[in-house]
Amino acid sequence: MPLTELLKKRISTRAFLDTIVSDQTLKKIFSDAQLSPSNCNVQPWQIHVVSGAKKEELKNKLIEAVMSGNPPNPDFNWGIRYSGIHRDRQYGSANALYSSMGIQRSDKQSRLTALIRNWTFFDAPHALFFTMEKYLDIMGAVDMGIYAQTLSLLMADNGISSCFQGALGQFPDPVRECLKIPGDFGILFGMSFGYADDNAPVNKTKTDRAPVKESVIFWE
Ligand SMILES: Cc1cc2nc3c(=O)[nH]c(=O)nc-3n(C[C@H](O)[C@H](O)[C@H](O)COP(=O)(O)O)c2cc1C
Repeated sequence: MPLTELLKKRISTRAFLDTIVSDQTLKKIFSDAQLSPSNCNVQPWQIHVVSGAKKEELKNKLIEAVMSGNPPNPDFNWGIRYSGIHRDRQYGSANALYSSMGIQRSDKQSRLTALIRNWTFFDAPHALFFTMEKYLDIMGAVDMGIYAQTLSLLMADNGISSCFQGALGQFPDPVRECLKIPGDFGILFGMSFGYADDNAPVNKTKTDRAPVKESVIFWE
């Protein structure tokens, strides 16, 4: 599929069919994703893909951690509060999401229920965690972002839908324990993926983008 079409096709998907992605398709996608560029070609990504019983085990542990009332303790700095135009866009995306689900802004309980679905992987048959050695900090995070977008576009090209999830980096302890991730590795974020349930209202969420002139300055 042409790249522009793929870019339009890849939208955050938050409801999935039970159908699993074949091992062969997964291997091809992850093999192609290795072509992602990285600073000095260090290729910092270590990806943990969970499916089947392992995914269920981790889902239960994550839900337990989220419901414990303990605050998030991410391995990396997710604590920045958006301000100005970024805050406006953050509200815009939340509004697009909740209105697709018919949830009013004032309905805190329904919003919380929708938020918690992050840690059930939106019932996707697969999820993955983007991990890297902690010392890499922002240099590694840049490479991870490039890798992640490459991966999501390759998935889209194979008819597979996904959702990036910062939420999956917020409670790293159960993930580390369940997937035997060494202490010097950090969990940056995650992604749920599989075949989209096209009938689910949440998958009708439409986000907009700023006009190019707000993002790109051409100098001559
Ligand atoms: C790094 C990153 C973290 C994200 N974290 C979450 C998340 O935790 N939960 C969620 O539902 N969506 C999450 N998203 C999805 C964004 O909300 C979404 O990409 C944005 O609103 C634009 O919509 P689109 O992906 O449909 O184009 C994340 C996206 C990125 C790139």
